[in-house]
Amino acid sequence: MSKVKVGIIGVSGYAGEELLRILVSHPRVEITYLAAKIEEDTPVGKIFPQFSALDLVCYSRIDREEMSQKAEVFFLALPHAVSMQFVPELYAEGKTIIDLSADYRFDQAEIYENHYVKHNSSHLLKEKVYGLPEIYREEIRGKKLVANPGCYPTSVILGLAPLFREKLIVPDTVIVDAKSGASGAGRNPRMDLVYPEINENFRAYAIASHRHQPEMEQELSHLCEKETKVIFVPHLAPYNRGILATIYVKLKENLAEAEIYQKYLSFYKREPFVKVLPLGEFPAVKYVRGTNICAVGIKMERRTNTLIVVSAIDNLTKGASGQAVQNFNILMGFSEETSLDNLPVLP
Ligand SMILES: NC(=O)c1ccc[n+]([C@@H]2O[C@H](COP(=O)([O-])OP(=O)(O)OC[C@H]3O[C@@H](n4cnc5c(N)ncnc54)[C@H](OP(=O)(O)O)[C@@H]3O)[C@@H](O)[C@H]2O)c1
Repeated sequence: MSKVKVGIIGVSGYAGEELLRILVSHPRVEITYLAAKIEEDTPVGKIFPQFSALDLVCYSRIDREEMSQKAEVFFLALPHAVSMQFVPELYAEGKTIIDLSADYRFDQAEIYENHYVKHNSSHLLKEKVYGLPEIYREEIRGKKLVANPGCYPTSVILGLAPLFREKLIVPDTVIVDAKSGASGAGRNPRMDLVYPEINENFRAYAIASHRHQPEMEQELSHLCEKETKVIFVPHLAPYNRGILATIYVKLKENLAEAEIYQKYLSFYKREPFVKVLPLGEFPAVKYVRGTNICAVGIKMERRTNTLIVVSAIDNLTKGASGQAVQNFNILMGFSEETSLDNLPVLP
């Protein structure tokens, strides 16, 4: 069986580590290039000892020429603004790129620039596909640039897609209260992320100003074909990985809970990575940790005609690297579940 030569850039971060965890056992992948900001070639086992026993190439400082020679497909697990230093050239060379940063997620450069930095290659925004397979599977096939979705947006869009697709929502009534573990902020040290600040603590941050809010709004607006606003309050929770989003939304019609539930089941009936829980059951981060599953539970609050949706993912798997591999499998024409369907729930 032939293998695809793959490079992971930003391998020393959390998303890079998770890409390695998944890709080392992918039967159609040969990892031929690993890079980050490091000064000299370093065995991956030095930073992630769990990979020490494997025969992996060393990771090195990014060398543009070497990079192009060594691989055909690149996973970019780099911070925003760093990815776009490399994407335009790789794209021009015909390489396949799965970018985990926010650099190519938006349709309009203006929105990206309002929330991030100036864009250097906005012409590529129309070439990208937003890599949420449950919504864009057909569009992903044949693309060369996949903008892998943000972690919070993945949990929220999948939690709401069946309702938005059928235009059942009272406009602008979505309220998202979401909690993420500390790995969501990456591996670089920060004062507010040191252990004593996180342990035994729980707090909201970036209230109604988080960068993932416009990303959710873009995609939910596409789904219902109407501009939509979202109120989004993220929280930092005292665990390593996982997102739990509790979403409140008003419905236009007086639908019975069982009817709404059927809509969810029908929307996701062929989706291997979205699990709609039986009525009365709700997900927890612990039960999706390390898996590529998004688990969703719903509850109708009849007195106020508010639907409450609870959606759980692992921010590093379905929220980042697992989804990136799912996109890779689609792009390459492999079974979408390759290397993803047997990921164990992590303790
Ligand atoms: N963490 C999550 O839950 C999550 C979820 C969805 C999407 N994402 C996105 O995925 C990307 C990676 O996130 P992460 O959490 O893995 O971040 P991270 O832990 O901070 O890792 C960032 C990686 O990028 C490398 N890097 C940083 N600046 C660089 C530069 N100028 N040149 C070359 N390499 C550079 C770092 O190398 P050094 O170690 O050598 O500095 C490291 O390997 C980000 O865009 C993030 O927004 C993350």
